[in-house]
Amino acid sequence: MGRTGRVVIAITGASGSILGIRLLQSLKGVEKHLVISANSSKVIEHETGMSVEEVRKLGDFSYDDGDLAARISSGSFLYDSMCIIPCSGSTLAKVSAGIADSLISRTASVALKERRKLIIVPRETPLSTIYIENMLRLSRSGVIIAPAMPGYYTRPASVDQMTDFVVGRVLDLMGIENNKIQRWNGIE
Ligand SMILES: Cc1cc2nc3c(=O)[nH]c(=O)nc-3n(C[C@H](O)[C@H](O)[C@H](O)COP(=O)(O)O)c2cc1C
Repeated sequence: MGRTGRVVIAITGASGSILGIRLLQSLKGVEKHLVISANSSKVIEHETGMSVEEVRKLGDFSYDDGDLAARISSGSFLYDSMCIIPCSGSTLAKVSAGIADSLISRTASVALKERRKLIIVPRETPLSTIYIENMLRLSRSGVIIAPAMPGYYTRPASVDQMTDFVVGRVLDLMGIENNKIQRWNGIE
C-alpha cells in the first residue's frame, strides 16, 4: 500500500488526553480521522478544560465510537497508520482479545488483520501482569507499543515539553517529520 496521506487517531479514557490533542494539533498535511471514546469525555474535560466538541474539531473527520458502520471500520478504507493515544487498559485488553464492539476496537482489529501500522500509547502505572501480557500479545502481532513515558535526558522544564517528547516520538513512528523533540546528540 502506498502512502494515502490519511491517519486514524483514537482517544480513549486513560489519563493523558492532552497527548491525543497535541498529536492532532501537530499533524499537518495529512487527513485526520478521529474517534473519541465515550469514557474519554470526562477525562478530556477534567484534565484539559477543553470540551469534547472542541477536540472533535481537530479532526478533519470525526466519528462516534458507537458507530460501527463508520467508513474507518472497513478494511477497504485505506490509511497510513492508526494511533490510539492515550490507550486505556480496557481498550488495550479488547484489542488484544479481538473484541470489536466499539468503533475504536473494531478499527484496531481491522488494522491488525490488514497488517496496517498500529501504534498504541498506553498510560497506566504500575502495570498488572494481565496488562503486560496484553501488550506482549499485541507487540507479537506487529503493534508498536509506545507507552506515555517521557525521556528526562532533555531536562524538560514543563509538562508541555514532556508531552511534546511523547508526541514527537509518536510522530516519528508514524513517519511524519517533526521537530517536537530535541534529538540525542551524545553528551557534550
Ligand atoms: C479521571 C480518570 C482517569 C483515568 N485514568 C486511566 C488511566 O490512566 N489508564 C487507564 O487504563 N484507565 C484510566 N481510567 C479508566 C478508564 O476511563 C476506564 O477503564 C474506561 O472504561 C475506559 O474506556 P475506553 O477505553 O472505552 O475509553 C480513568 C478514568 C477516569 C475517570
